[in-house]
Amino acid sequence: MAQTVQFRWQPQRESATPLYQQLITYCVTQIRQGNWLVGQQLPPQRELAQTYRVNRSTIHTAIAELQALGVVMTAHGRGTRVASNSWSTLLSATPDWQRWVHAGEFSANQPTIQTINQREFTTPIRLSTGELGPDLFPRRAVQTAMHQAADQLTTLNYLPALGSLALREALVQRLKTWGVQTTVDNILITSGSLQALQLITAALLKPGTTVYTAAASYLRSLRVLESVQAKWAPLPVDEQGLAYWHIPVSPQPQLLYTVPTFDNPLGTVMTVQRRTDLLTFAQKYQLPIIEDTAYQELWLDQRPPLPLKAHDTQGNVLYLGTVSKDLAPGLRVGWLVGPQAVVARLADVKMQMDYGASTLSQQTLVNLLTAPDYPRTLQRLRDQLRERREAALASLTATLGDLATWNRPAGGFYLWVQLPAKVELPRLFQAALAQGVLANPGTVYGAPTNALRLSYAYATPAEFRRGVTILATLIRQQLSR
Ligand SMILES: Cc1ncc(COP(=O)(O)O)c(C=O)c1O
Repeated sequence: MAQTVQFRWQPQRESATPLYQQLITYCVTQIRQGNWLVGQQLPPQRELAQTYRVNRSTIHTAIAELQALGVVMTAHGRGTRVASNSWSTLLSATPDWQRWVHAGEFSANQPTIQTINQREFTTPIRLSTGELGPDLFPRRAVQTAMHQAADQLTTLNYLPALGSLALREALVQRLKTWGVQTTVDNILITSGSLQALQLITAALLKPGTTVYTAAASYLRSLRVLESVQAKWAPLPVDEQGLAYWHIPVSPQPQLLYTVPTFDNPLGTVMTVQRRTDLLTFAQKYQLPIIEDTAYQELWLDQRPPLPLKAHDTQGNVLYLGTVSKDLAPGLRVGWLVGPQAVVARLADVKMQMDYGASTLSQQTLVNLLTAPDYPRTLQRLRDQLRERREAALASLTATLGDLATWNRPAGGFYLWVQLPAKVELPRLFQAALAQGVLANPGTVYGAPTNALRLSYAYATPAEFRRGVTILATLIRQQLSR
């Protein structure tokens, strides 16, 4: 699906120029300035009329004229798109941004992810969002930590390449509670673990490296590895976790990415036995492992097994941590733990990219992690999430009990809802969106089966119930055809 343009028209109602004419000028200007590109979609006419409180005929007249000029094209059922900017580039010195924006190595997001990113802030029921909802955000704790950070300021300069020493010291202590013995020289502070994945890709991966993941994996929803033409290789998952023995012994570069604790999107937990067996295998065949622990703190029943890194005696594991899921993704702070040579190389690349994650965020996080009531803040969050999980499971049983199956996650945010094979996911996604519900199709994670990923972390229990009620009605409509 084509990306939708940013539409921020400001009608001047007192002007002598008719509104339809103003609208034409606005659209032409956006195209001429390279803000809108050929092929991009305009919002539906009905939506424009509502948003700008103008008559449908005003919008219709403007679009018809733009169409007559060859600036946009309208196809039945497919809306209106930008058709041409060649006439305008003849008139001005605008570079041909159309060509430039596709020239770089970094791939565009999947169209469905682009739609989710665009619509997330305007859709009332967000079952797609992998973040804490506003009512779960530990506002007081973060405010206190930020006030302290403001008081502690002596400068606001760049930090060492590995990141704030105080933060790395706090992380050494936190990691100990997870059985990971490490030093401040083995930790690199990143702008979220997403940046750690980018650094690994940019600095460590040869083009064509094979990356093993679960068949449905968070990593597949990103396009970060595409820039080095990595080859995806899905691994089966059984009740104990990844079936790693399907990885062939090969002289070619290959590595494994896994979220062993409360996986995104599957919600699964790798057993202790599987963890130790996997590490023995990795050591024997010198297989690097990226261990992503984003949801590790969010257990809802019992504390999960120790991470792979806790058993990593040979330095096979690059361990990724973040506070995005248990505290605040907006801090944009994550960390990577690995062998010093690797950490130093990634730090050097990071210095070239951004000269370090936000100094203020890092100091705020030091204050949060070392606050005496930090363990209680986390515990309260787990209690709240547990309630949400129970409410979400009850809502699923009430609305989709006869149609779908799902997991009971022992932690994290996600329900993986398997739908009948007959359900067309793209149609369901669009129809739900039209009714104000965002839900992630499993296909964005590369899932080979017909599933939805629903999060109970953002929507309130009442919103979750309304959302799955709408989904259930749409699924029934599809199945009755
Ligand atoms: C498994 C996993 N890793 C990493 C991230 C991104 O984390 P960050 O905000 O630290 O970049 C997410 C976010 O959804 C995730 O689910």
